[in-house]
Amino acid sequence: MKNQPKQSCDDAESIRSYLLILNELEHHISTNKDYHANINFLLDKAEAYFKNSNIQVLFIDDDRKLLRNDLYGLKKEGQPAYEITLNENNYFESFFIQQSDNLFISNLDEKKNENVLQDKIQLVLPEAKSLMFVHLIHEGTAVGLMSVKNKEINAFTSCNFEFLQHLSFFISTLVGQIVKDKILKQHEDELIASRKQLLESEKMASLGQLSAGIAHEIKNPLNFINNFAVLSVDLSTELSEEFDKLSEQMNQNDKEYLAEIIQDLQSNMQKIKEHGQRAESIIKGMLLHSRGKTGELIPTDINALLAEYVNLGYHGMRAQDISFNIKIESSYDQTIGRIQVVPQNLSRVFLNIINNACYATNEKKTKLKEAYFPTLSVQTKNRENEIEIRIRDNGPGIPQSVIDKVFNPFFTTKPPGQGTGLGLSLSYEIIVKEHHGEMQVESQDGEYAEFIIKIPKNLT
Ligand SMILES: Nc1ncnc2c1ncn2[C@@H]1O[C@H](COP(=O)(O)OP(=O)(O)OP(=O)(O)O)[C@@H](O)[C@H]1O
Ligand SMILES: [Mg+2]
Repeated sequence: MKNQPKQSCDDAESIRSYLLILNELEHHISTNKDYHANINFLLDKAEAYFKNSNIQVLFIDDDRKLLRNDLYGLKKEGQPAYEITLNENNYFESFFIQQSDNLFISNLDEKKNENVLQDKIQLVLPEAKSLMFVHLIHEGTAVGLMSVKNKEINAFTSCNFEFLQHLSFFISTLVGQIVKDKILKQHEDELIASRKQLLESEKMASLGQLSAGIAHEIKNPLNFINNFAVLSVDLSTELSEEFDKLSEQMNQNDKEYLAEIIQDLQSNMQKIKEHGQRAESIIKGMLLHSRGKTGELIPTDINALLAEYVNLGYHGMRAQDISFNIKIESSYDQTIGRIQVVPQNLSRVFLNIINNACYATNEKKTKLKEAYFPTLSVQTKNRENEIEIRIRDNGPGIPQSVIDKVFNPFFTTKPPGQGTGLGLSLSYEIIVKEHHGEMQVESQDGEYAEFIIKIPKNLT
């Protein structure tokens, strides 16, 4: 679209008048930091300069899908909202954005036969005879367009066109500043959120250490209580037996009184024993959760454990979002039998992977709606020296650019406050350090994510 004016502006007076305006604009911009207000100030000046003309500025939106007249603080009073799809050729504006040159037409009627888009130009402003369209470009990227239209033939001079091009440069620069500020603000917000999360994780870690410390301190006295409780239960049984032997020689009142005391004593000792054991199991749990300590290896039915946690993960997600549903495909190798693992910790691994899968598929479902159904596949295999567990979901997958980071502590793509990014790093530690196994991830972006765990069978 080669439609530049035939000559460049050589009228000294015209140049002087537009340079004066540009000078004023430059001064205003450099002393006022409200970029949105500056854009409107520029437009006011343009309106005063192009008298009796229609001026329009349209910006490309963040998704680069629409051209809109209400972005970057463009004033709206008296102006109806206007937006058009960027990739459609039905609108003259979107057609223009796809061209490389600016446009200057001094008599639209003359273009009737030569310009195939004549009807579209008429759509823009049916009565326009003169038009100028300029691109708004910042650092090589199109950010929008600016147009000036007039009902008269030859309404604009080449000097007007030059002025418009200078103006478009100013507006593009202001948009660039606004975008940069926005990105900066986003980065700042992210930084604040991740700092907060880091503090939270540190707090959790020290809380874990503290509770492990307390648990450790309580363990010894509790041991005494429990051991003596067991002994005392036995002793009270012995006492009761002795009492039965001697009770013949007692009078009725003494006998009943002592029998009652012995019975109370027996039931009290039984209660101390039971509750002491309960306290012990709580303390054991607290100690297991403290990192760095290896839990107890217990022969475990891996298939049953996995099935249990698939179920738990699914119901956990349903509790948060009742509309969530997922098809579960399972293939358990029944020849595995029981193998030595730390079930409490392995179950944390399963739960985290399944929670991640449910979260990921639910996100995809929200986007694709009916076109998609979440599926989770779990598989176990009995290999020669190890067992292999595969957990796969058909969610959004993990982009290649971040797949190496998913096991890093604190790596998360969840919105701030929703994930600590510790799930997979803890899982990795449990599988690799505690069980001397392997943990890997495979994924195709947009298609699936699969976590593969291998645990040796000969753990002792
Ligand atoms: N099944 C999956 N599909 C897609 N991305 C995943 C999947 N599993 C993990 N990820 C990616 O790996 C990141 C780290 O996972 P991880 O479990 O360590 O932390 P998180 O889930 O973000 O947080 P938390 O576990 O504390 O809730 C996730 O934020 C996500 O980007
Ligand atoms: Mg997680």
